[in-house]
Amino acid sequence: MSEHTTQTDMEKIVSLAKRRGFVFQGSEIYGGLAGTYDYGPLGVLLKNNIRDNWIEKFVSSQTNMYLLDSAILMHPRVWETTGHVDKFVDPLVEDIVTHKRYRADHLLEEAGVSDASSWTPQQMNDFVTKNNHKSPEGNPLGPVRTFNMMLSTKVGTVEDSASVVYLRPETAQGIFLNYKNVMDSFHPKLPFGIAQVGKAFRNEITPRDFIFRVREFEQMEIEYFIHGSQWKETFTFFQEQMLSWITSIGIDSSKIHCVDIPDADRAHYSQRTIDFEFEYPFGQKELFGLAYRTDYDLARHMQESGARLEYVDEVTQEKFIPHVIEPSCGLERAVLAVLLSAYREDTAGDDVRVFLDLPAHIAPYTVAVSPLLKNKEKLWNEARDVFEMLKKEFHHVVWDDHGNIGKRYRRQDEIGTPFCVVIDFDSLEDKTVTIRDRNTTEQIRISKDDLAGWIRARIT
Ligand code: GAP
Repeated sequence: MSEHTTQTDMEKIVSLAKRRGFVFQGSEIYGGLAGTYDYGPLGVLLKNNIRDNWIEKFVSSQTNMYLLDSAILMHPRVWETTGHVDKFVDPLVEDIVTHKRYRADHLLEEAGVSDASSWTPQQMNDFVTKNNHKSPEGNPLGPVRTFNMMLSTKVGTVEDSASVVYLRPETAQGIFLNYKNVMDSFHPKLPFGIAQVGKAFRNEITPRDFIFRVREFEQMEIEYFIHGSQWKETFTFFQEQMLSWITSIGIDSSKIHCVDIPDADRAHYSQRTIDFEFEYPFGQKELFGLAYRTDYDLARHMQESGARLEYVDEVTQEKFIPHVIEPSCGLERAVLAVLLSAYREDTAGDDVRVFLDLPAHIAPYTVAVSPLLKNKEKLWNEARDVFEMLKKEFHHVVWDDHGNIGKRYRRQDEIGTPFCVVIDFDSLEDKTVTIRDRNTTEQIRISKDDLAGWIRARIT
């Protein structure tokens, strides 16, 4: 019966995400707060699985990686030193009638100026003025100016300029600030990496495209410290590792493009950047990034703080500031690309079945357990027994006895549960269960004793 389709669009994903408890608009009952989203029970499980898998691949299974959890609020001088106060800006333009604000490069790109993102604000301003370019509402636009993307807040009891601090716009700086602490505690030899997963905040001018561009998000970043002479091979190594991880979590690799970012578009600290771009329904855009940050950050922090941040090679006695390769992944974009890659529709006549073809180790639930009929005590008890047995072995087992069996299958398909186990009348006689495959909908009967092993063998 099945005709698999990969045709997706954002409305289907957004609606499924809300309906099934993955992602909700932030502060929804107050009308929403732009650029913020809340994760429901299944969104949390999906996010946790992706995050845990990243930590497993890039940290736990390695011998030279260290985890860190640094404060979100840091000394304001950090962001002056790194150049974020001056250079972490986007071009902003305002509709002078409605006072709506836009990213100037986005506005021009939407109007067909394909290379606007590589222009300076001055070039954009000249274009807008010369062509009398209008806002989407048809109104005149003001001058293009730069807008700092860092969100600030105040600390302490006295409200003056000295109390202003920034919510970190990247987790990376917490790593650079703790480079010396990790060195002093663990004495690692180069190459080694420090990884951090945590929240980052950016005052995006136009947050949009669901969870793609938001103001509060989570980053999974590594600063991998090396001798400068090793940057090229290390860069290639991480590019391959990132590609293999992207595929392993179920993102459609045929929709991934590695794009070398030209000099003019790179962040001020980077000597080479590759963006891993994904073909979203709204266009090919950045999923993750990989940058060669040279010794820029450690050198700047050493200069401004006075802390000694050099590394001494024990063998050659060479003293130098390590360089870094930085793989940087946004968790929300990973969630979005995983959901888009997994979305499938099956058609049988007029009937459309929606399912998420998520890898078993990424799906919120690995297995759902049901009695065929809820109101038959013996079936219910036996199903509960199977449920408890599987719960001991697997983290994510869900009990589902709502509605009829067909509805349960549909619900579990839509949230990507790879296996549904049902206890029926035969189960009571011969200690077997049926297990149904989400993608094929085929069912097989296996012995209760073999069930856990059967599932284990299929979770990679
Ligand atoms: N430390 C380097 C850095 O922050 P970036 O390219 O600005 O580099 C890294 O951000 C990743 O963070 C991006 O590849 C993306 O996955 C994610 N990201 C950045 N801005 C985001 C936003 N506004 N909403 C969601 N994710 C974002």
